[in-house]
Amino acid sequence: RPRLITDTAMVQVFPSLESLSEAAAALFVSCAQKAVQANDRCSVALAGGNTPSRAYSLLAAPAYRNQVPWEKLHIFWGDERFVLPDHPMSNYRAARETLLDHVPIPPANIHPILCTATPSQTVASYEQALHTYFAPAPMRFDLVLLGLGADGHTASLFPGNPDFSSSPASVAATTKPGDAVSRITLTPRVLNHAATLAFLVAGADKAPALKQVIEEPALPARLPAQLIQPATGEILWFLDQPAAALLRT
Ligand code: 6PG
Repeated sequence: RPRLITDTAMVQVFPSLESLSEAAAALFVSCAQKAVQANDRCSVALAGGNTPSRAYSLLAAPAYRNQVPWEKLHIFWGDERFVLPDHPMSNYRAARETLLDHVPIPPANIHPILCTATPSQTVASYEQALHTYFAPAPMRFDLVLLGLGADGHTASLFPGNPDFSSSPASVAATTKPGDAVSRITLTPRVLNHAATLAFLVAGADKAPALKQVIEEPALPARLPAQLIQPATGEILWFLDQPAAALLRT
């Protein structure tokens, strides 16, 4: 049962990660079909981490795979760990193993955040990749998938990171407190221009952060997920019951 929290946001609570993942896969299909019908192409920024894995695997299965115009789809990442593409921590590797190696997407349509030089060089080259794809139109993803950390982070925007809310940059290098591995992330500026943003949040460990992000006053320095306020797009929260357990309604 959807619960509107603002006029551009909708929260849906699912009984399980499986049903949440089915809904996320269906959203991916409908966004892709709509974008390709309207603009003959579709740009998606994938989330990293574990939560979206089941949705990616579903998209690789015939029931969903056969509904997606893969040849017109362009895959980007919302963030990446600063590791080589075959590293176990790589979001690119995870997406390849669960989805991209199993669908007929042209290799040239896969736009990984390549962490082979230095973080600042990677930031510059990903800014260029985004510009090459979007220019001269605005940098507006058709779909952005996002996760939520138990500390209120999303993509690789972590509590305590510099304030990116007014940054003109589309890509930034960040650090996860306590992690040795640097991160590369899209900034709120580009994320908030997306047509559709969907948070996929599952597990009881996310319930406290989710309640703070959705229901408590804005404190984006401590809860970076609150920086995600789409300018004109829609924001969807796909939650499982354990993650939604502390929400007021
Ligand atoms: C990453 C993700 C990150 C993730 C959250 C939730 O690179 O790890 O982009 O923002 O979405 O940390 O991760 P889980 O889905 O694994 O809980």
